[in-house]
Amino acid sequence: MMSAKVYPAKAFGFKSDSIAPDKSISHRSAMFAILAEGESRIENFLRAEDTLNTLKIVGHLGAEITDDGSVITIRSHGIQESSEILDCGNSGTGMRLFCGLLSSAEGHFILTGDEYLKRRPMKRVTQPLRSIGAKLDGRNNGDLAPLSIRGASLKAFDYTSPIASAQVKSAMMLAALRSNGVCTFKEPELSRDHTERMLRGMGARVEINGLETKIWPLEKPLQPLHIRVPADPSSAFFFAVAAAITPESSAIIEGVTLNPTRIEAFKVLERMGAKITYSLEDERYEPIGTIAVEYAPLKAVVVEDNIAWLIDELPALSIAMACAEGKSVIKNAEELRVKESDRIKTVVDNLNLCGIETEEYSDGYAVKGGELKSAVVNSYGDHRIAMSFLIAGLKCGMKVEDIECINTSFPNFFELLGMCGKVEK
Ligand code: S3P
Repeated sequence: MMSAKVYPAKAFGFKSDSIAPDKSISHRSAMFAILAEGESRIENFLRAEDTLNTLKIVGHLGAEITDDGSVITIRSHGIQESSEILDCGNSGTGMRLFCGLLSSAEGHFILTGDEYLKRRPMKRVTQPLRSIGAKLDGRNNGDLAPLSIRGASLKAFDYTSPIASAQVKSAMMLAALRSNGVCTFKEPELSRDHTERMLRGMGARVEINGLETKIWPLEKPLQPLHIRVPADPSSAFFFAVAAAITPESSAIIEGVTLNPTRIEAFKVLERMGAKITYSLEDERYEPIGTIAVEYAPLKAVVVEDNIAWLIDELPALSIAMACAEGKSVIKNAEELRVKESDRIKTVVDNLNLCGIETEEYSDGYAVKGGELKSAVVNSYGDHRIAMSFLIAGLKCGMKVEDIECINTSFPNFFELLGMCGKVEK
């Protein structure tokens, strides 16, 4: 098990156009290409464990993949039955979206994952998919991987999801594309909308009306995808927090998606006092541009709305809260309990080790701003916990244990962290 040590940093000016490419968009690029006719071209695909596992699965499902180190091309031959067990590694997105994609494919498929993924709930997708005719099963009556899928014909649906989850929405949208009629999906709060944008861009008929999405079954294959994956705002956000907690520092992040369903955490950091500007420079499936963040003293904040738009950034935001004046509160975030770790518990336990007072709720927590103290903390195998506490180390020094998980989403994290302060592995 590897660990890393970060030392307190002096003022820095961070600027990068090489933040990890977006994970959500990379997964979808590889998966959606399998529904297209012709060659899809993906530039700046995230070469991290989670998304490389998805790409490998797409290959096992019969697609021809070439990679010249810069552009990945995918040519589909339809979805073919595989003799391999399809291993999603640590990725909930991979597993849940493949459930939707494979439910209607001809053949039998087995999906599995690592020790963490095998503990995460899958019923949120297997139950609605079963209700439209999918033949899916797994431990605990279809809730836990390994999952087995026998492709079947799917009925059109009108489904209201109890949770705002882009993974559930995307799985159901993929099922809808190969169902027998027009489908409607509703969610309690809008979740990230990459699937809608990308499928539309590839020629699918998708209509969005507030929280309701209508999807028409495909009459012909999708057009191939030609995409350059923008930088991931949830990866960029670690450096936004780093600048916001280090006096006289700044972070400029280039080529990042400015999709409103993804940059809410930056808006919260702004509400806390950080100076942030957004410049739109391009539009391809997504709005893309630069985010610049400047240090300013932070004050406490209450976060209770649009939780789906910043769920992945909450661990890093908690570090900013620990450095802010006053008591910050996060509510309506019970989904944190079923991420790569129980992030309510792992954030609170680690902040306590750093001398910060917290209160734990069933759906969130409170953080009383104070003086962060150097500590030895564990990542609990969760990449975002590891990176959040390494960023905290720029303030007070920190040792984080079990850091291999960072490779699931952000392989060049340490290189970029080294631009802000001293790091030892
Ligand atoms: C993702 C959706 C979110 C997010 C995850 C990626 C996606 O999960 O936390 O990191 O790519 O669809 P939920 O949709 O389950 O909230």
